[in-house]
Amino acid sequence: QTSPLRALRGRLLWFVADPRDVGEAAHRYVADGVLVIEGGVIRAVGPAEAILPTLPAGAEIIDHHPHLIMPGFIDAHLHMPQTQVIASYGAQLMDWLNRYTFVEEQRLAQQGHPEKLATFLLDELLANGTTTAVIYCSVHPQSAQALFAESERRNTRMIAGKVMMDRNAPEALTDTAQSSYADSKALIERWHGRGRQLYAITPRFVVTSTPEQMEAAGRLAAEHPDCHVQTHINENRAEIALANELYPEPGDYAGIYQHYGLLGPRSLLGHCIHMTDREWRRFAETGSVAVFCPTSNLFLGSGLFDWARARAEGVPVAVATDIGGGTSYSMLRTMSEAYKVLQLQGQSLSAFAALHAITLGNAKALKLDHLIGSLEPGHEADVVVLDAGAQRAMAHRLETARDLAEELFVLVTLGDERNVVATYVMGERTNPPSFSGGA
Ligand code: GUN
Ligand code: ZN
Repeated sequence: QTSPLRALRGRLLWFVADPRDVGEAAHRYVADGVLVIEGGVIRAVGPAEAILPTLPAGAEIIDHHPHLIMPGFIDAHLHMPQTQVIASYGAQLMDWLNRYTFVEEQRLAQQGHPEKLATFLLDELLANGTTTAVIYCSVHPQSAQALFAESERRNTRMIAGKVMMDRNAPEALTDTAQSSYADSKALIERWHGRGRQLYAITPRFVVTSTPEQMEAAGRLAAEHPDCHVQTHINENRAEIALANELYPEPGDYAGIYQHYGLLGPRSLLGHCIHMTDREWRRFAETGSVAVFCPTSNLFLGSGLFDWARARAEGVPVAVATDIGGGTSYSMLRTMSEAYKVLQLQGQSLSAFAALHAITLGNAKALKLDHLIGSLEPGHEADVVVLDAGAQRAMAHRLETARDLAEELFVLVTLGDERNVVATYVMGERTNPPSFSGGA
């Protein structure tokens, strides 16, 4: 029903390396560029003057000039059951989990509720230009089922899993080592690699898993080495004390996950704020990924993630919203807060480094950079179109911007979903319903 070739014209920006490693050579910018999409995949990219003459007569050309065209954003950690927990007042991690999160997550047992949340979440992500996310569902297998079904309907590339937790949570929210293994396994068989969907084995954190369940999670990871593992670590002092009390032998929090075979290059560990030297080494040795969640770490009063240390240790870093400990769905907002977290530690983050992080950087951390996070030919055509001047205060500020770096820094510092002009998934423009008031 669509023309075989679709071309997007505008100001193209993407990355081929990390700007912190190679500076200006890390990005590609084409002021009048064309991106050619065929069958949902990028076929060609380059200056309009070179590409346009090569297009067949029937090709559809969508002109987004003067807007920026970038790879869709990637969010490496968020919680679907917490879309109605976001902005809950006055608590740090353990109280916040008990007072708000574990109460709300029980509602996913209700008929139709997971479907409602999945629809909302994917609308909201796409409205923010996020085309791939790594998602915690609830303990209920039907929560992951609902998320994957909705993602498949939209053909988005999502990575998700049912939470495994069998202690230190309300009865209604616990599974068992056996049932969590069986339910996760069934979901992997049904969804992992089906279309664009990918499964993440999801033990919530050591506090809510018995040794039997940790062992079951490790067994799943060993049996499905191409699945991701996602969990939490070293977020909050009280949490860390409890984790080490429950599992004293390994000597540190990372050692507990390592003992159960849960560290590795596809392991995504949220927070990593209060890390010991030995824990950084465990991450580096196993290639485990530290996930930086700036708005959440500030909102829950957890602490400041040390990105320079992670880089120095050779530990890969992904960035994420951590909805609903986090306070924004926007990866632009997230990077604006990341900048402030780093400022407090005397570290910096250029606009190029920030935009790299939420595209190619996260794709690499997820080991999906051959598929997403780039406008290079062969990649899936998940694309966000951005207008840095969409907000009045931003247009006003841009009157004095002298170059691309300055424009992008304004975009990263002040931008949010209002700056997203369009989001394409596999070359198809998505039309999330525009919000027009409360229920
Ligand atoms: N640690 C264990 N569960 C959670 C969660 O839902 N959110 C955050 N921020 N940390 C956690
Ligand atoms: Zn989390």
